Order: sequence, then C-alpha cells, then structure tokens
Amino acid sequence: MTTPLVSSLPQWKALSAHAENLRNVHLRDLFADDPDRGERLGVEAAGLHLDYSKNRVTDTTLDLLVELAEAVGLRDAAGRMFSGEKINVTEGRAVLHTALRATAGQVVEVDGVDVVPGVHAVLARLGAFAEKIRSGAWLGHTGQPIRTVVNIGIGGSDLGPAMATLALRPYATDDLDVRFVSNVDGDDIAEKTRGLDPATTLFIVASKTFTTQETMANAATARAWLLDGLKDQAAVARHFVAVSTAAAEVEAFGIDTENMFGFWDWVGGRYSMDSAVGLSLMIAIGPERFEELLAGFRAMDTHFRTAPLRENAPVLLALLGVWYTDFLGAESHAVLPYAQYLDSFADYLQQLDMESNGKSVTVDGQRVDYATGPVVWGTPGTNGQHAYYQLLHQGTRLVPADFIGFAHPGNEVGDHHDLLMANFFAQTEALAFGKTADEVAAEGATGVLVAHKTFEGNRPTTTILGEKLTPFALGALIALYEHKVFTQGIVWGLNSFDQWGVQLGKVLAGRIAPELTSPAAPDLRHDSSTNALIRRYRSLRGRADA
Ligand code: F6P
Repeated sequence: MTTPLVSSLPQWKALSAHAENLRNVHLRDLFADDPDRGERLGVEAAGLHLDYSKNRVTDTTLDLLVELAEAVGLRDAAGRMFSGEKINVTEGRAVLHTALRATAGQVVEVDGVDVVPGVHAVLARLGAFAEKIRSGAWLGHTGQPIRTVVNIGIGGSDLGPAMATLALRPYATDDLDVRFVSNVDGDDIAEKTRGLDPATTLFIVASKTFTTQETMANAATARAWLLDGLKDQAAVARHFVAVSTAAAEVEAFGIDTENMFGFWDWVGGRYSMDSAVGLSLMIAIGPERFEELLAGFRAMDTHFRTAPLRENAPVLLALLGVWYTDFLGAESHAVLPYAQYLDSFADYLQQLDMESNGKSVTVDGQRVDYATGPVVWGTPGTNGQHAYYQLLHQGTRLVPADFIGFAHPGNEVGDHHDLLMANFFAQTEALAFGKTADEVAAEGATGVLVAHKTFEGNRPTTTILGEKLTPFALGALIALYEHKVFTQGIVWGLNSFDQWGVQLGKVLAGRIAPELTSPAAPDLRHDSSTNALIRRYRSLRGRADA
C-alpha cells in the first residue's frame, strides 16, 4: 500500500488556503499588530538562539505547519531513526549518525547489536593517533615528525572536515598545517602539495567506499609524489592512513589496515563528519575539542528529540522552509553566516540538504506533485552585501535566508566585530521592513527616483545567534541543519539518505574516460552534441581521430 502524497492531506490544503490569505500581509503589519512578536517568536536550542519573528507567518501558520508535521508522523519517524530502524529503505540501511555522538553506556542497536561500544573504540583509536601526530611522536619514514596533514576525499569525506577545520581555526594547533584535496582536477593536488616535504607530510585517504574515482586518482598521485621524494615503498605505511568502511579496498591500495579507521554503513557520507571522517579535524583541534564538538551535536539531538514541535528549532526551520517552498513559491534558500570562519558552511550544507532532499519521488516511488528541496547557497557577510544582496532587497524573487552570527569573534580586532554585527542586524531589519515610497519622498527624492529607492521589504529571514563559534556551538549548528533536513524529508515523504541521482554521471564518466584517451578514434555512440564535444577535445589535446 502506498502512502498518500502529503499534498493530499487536509493539513496541506488548509495551508494552501491560508497562504492565499497571507500572501499580501506585510511583516510591517505583523510587527505593528503584535508588539511582543520579536521576543515571542524565538527559541533557545543547545546554546543557540533562533529568532524566527521576521518570517511571513502568523500563529495560525505555525499551528497549521505543526499540524502537518504531526499528520506525517514526524515524531515516530524521528524515533525510528534514533532507534536504528532501517529507514534508508533503498539501500537497506539504518541511519544512525546520532549514534556517533552517543555517550558511553547509551544503547543503540542495529540488528540487535549495540553499536555504541564500537563508536567509542574508534574514537579512542582516533584520539590516540591524533595525539601522536600532534605531539610529534609519530615519525615519518625518515624519522621526522609530521608537519602537514593532507585529507584526500570528496563529498561527505571532504566537506565536513574541511568546513569544520576552517570554522575552528582558533582552536587548532599552529604546529600543523591541515589541507584538503577533493577535486580530480590535477590542479588541486598540485597546489596542495606544492612546496611540501614528503618526509613531513601525512595523507589521510578518506572514502567510505574506497572506490570513488576522484579520491582514488588523488590518492594514487599522492602515493607517486611521496615515493618520488622518499624512494622507498616502505614509506607508504608511515605517510598514509585510511578512513573507510571498506577494509579490503584499503589493503589493496597498500595501506596497512592497522592504520585504517573504520565507520559503518549506517553513517551516510554527508552525515559522517563526526565519525572517523573527522580525523583531519581531530588532528587539527585535538581529541578534547572534538569531544566538545560531539557534545554540541548531542545537545541539539536532545533538543530535537524532546522539545515540543512548536518550540523545536530544527522543526521550525524545516517547517518555515516547507512554507516558503511549497506555499509561497521560493526556489532557493540562502545561508548567510556573519563569521568568516564559516566560509565553507554553505558548501557543506549544499551536500547535506541538496543530496538529501533533491528528490522527485517519495519513499514508495510516487512522483511528487509539489516542490521539494530548495537550492541552498550563501557566503559570509558582509561580502555578499556588496555582491548579490541587491537582488535580495529589490529583486523579484522570494529568497528566504538564515542569518548566522555570534556575540564574540574568533579574534578581537579593534571594533571589527561590532561593525560586522551592526551589518548583521541591519540587513534583517532592512529586508523585513524596507522603506516606503513616502519615507523615500520625505527624504527629498522626487520623480522616478522614488520608485528606485523604495524597498518593499517583507523579505523573510531567520536569525541564529550564538555566543561564540566554539566546537560545541559548531556541533549544535550542524545538528540543527541535519535535523532540519530530516524533518523536511519526512514532510515531503522522501528518503533523505540515498543519492541515486549522482550515479548516472559517474557511469557515463567511466564510459567517456577511455574515449578521451584511446590512441585510435573511438566509436562514439552518444548524442550528437556529446560526440562533437569529445571529438573537439581530442583534437585540442592532439589526439587525432584518423
Ligand atoms: O557524490 C556521491 C557520494 O557518494 C557522496 O554521497 C559521498 O559523500 C561522496 O560520493 C564520497 O563517497 P566516498 O566517501 O565513498 O568516497
């Protein structure tokens, strides 16, 4: 029996009707009618304050959205995830990234086996290894300590640790340089290894499957680079470690499985940064700081599990997203951190959100008749203000945005932080309230300039304000978005944990690679555009088609 599409539920229909009533209501009026709105529409979650008052919603909207979440069984669904049920049905897997931050003694079972002791055993091994690298006790092949760590991975095996290593830079040791190579474009590894000494460089090959083309190509190049410098096959064991679920593949590559850190098929790639995939980060910040990060994740997990839906930060973020996507026609969602150290946060969220909810069929294979995951994008403020904010303020599109900021900076530099935060607060105020034509005219503008200088406002934002970007706060922030994405997936009826959409391109690339390099002209059987482009490329590379 198939589950009815969410769009057929009475709660969805009620929201559609409600949206018509609310379409022309302005945030100015919502605030004028409710002087406490700014205080009232806020929640605290794991040390983060979420102000959602500048969203185009009334109490009725929120009630209806929560009713929708209840109607799709959000609470039960979350319980199924946390308890290790195989909710990733297309891959027959449990979804247990939350077990990665379980405390010792907590029991989380998959197929009747408690997975928590295994999680803690790996964490202990990771911690011991990270300390050896940080203290200089781990010596490279020529007896020198490690100075540079290069993580080789892509997608979930890169974006999380890369984002977090930058985010937590103030907590990292200055004795080590931690770098990330992901792109199969040789320019990436060429730049990341430029000037490095193989004798003091450690590579972490991070790949859940250990078959990903980009990562395997970069790992092979790194090994050749190392051997070119150290001239001894035995050096590989001192300069390469692996993070993977695939022991046989790791061994086949030549890495000693003693130096392999495992995780499990119930950890999705994009949910894996707090598993062994976070080894590079742990080396940078140390095991204690890593534990603080896990504590932040855990605190948000607890909030998500226990807070009433109407006061539940991830649920509110998710339902607001559903509101804009499905009832007010938004196509994208901006994430705008006013924190330079969160420079890669939107990149990370793109995979988390778009690989999870960029789907057109429900869990049981029905085509949806509503919009699902939005395009997620963003860069740190204030840079964006001088680039694309014009469109946010006066363009024709509805772009809901999350503004993320902190009371304390990573570095206290003059009055920079107060200037930054003045912009942070100013932007959400300007977006919500705008400036009327009367106000513009009162300032002396005349004629056509009045129209140009008018800001219609009513542009929705959510503000996430934390005390400081600590490891704990980062963990809480990431878990906030993990559970947001989960909640939206449940509302839309999706399997947020597979990614079949990335397969076709991978298969075609595998077919095309030999066609680009074959000495003889290949028998091309693609469409006429692809055939012509391949021929042109071969010709530009001096590979004659004769
Ligand atoms: O892009 C598809 C994908 O499978 C992601 O889901 C994953 O994070 C990435 O490739 C890397 O996979 P792996 O860790 O197996 O190398």
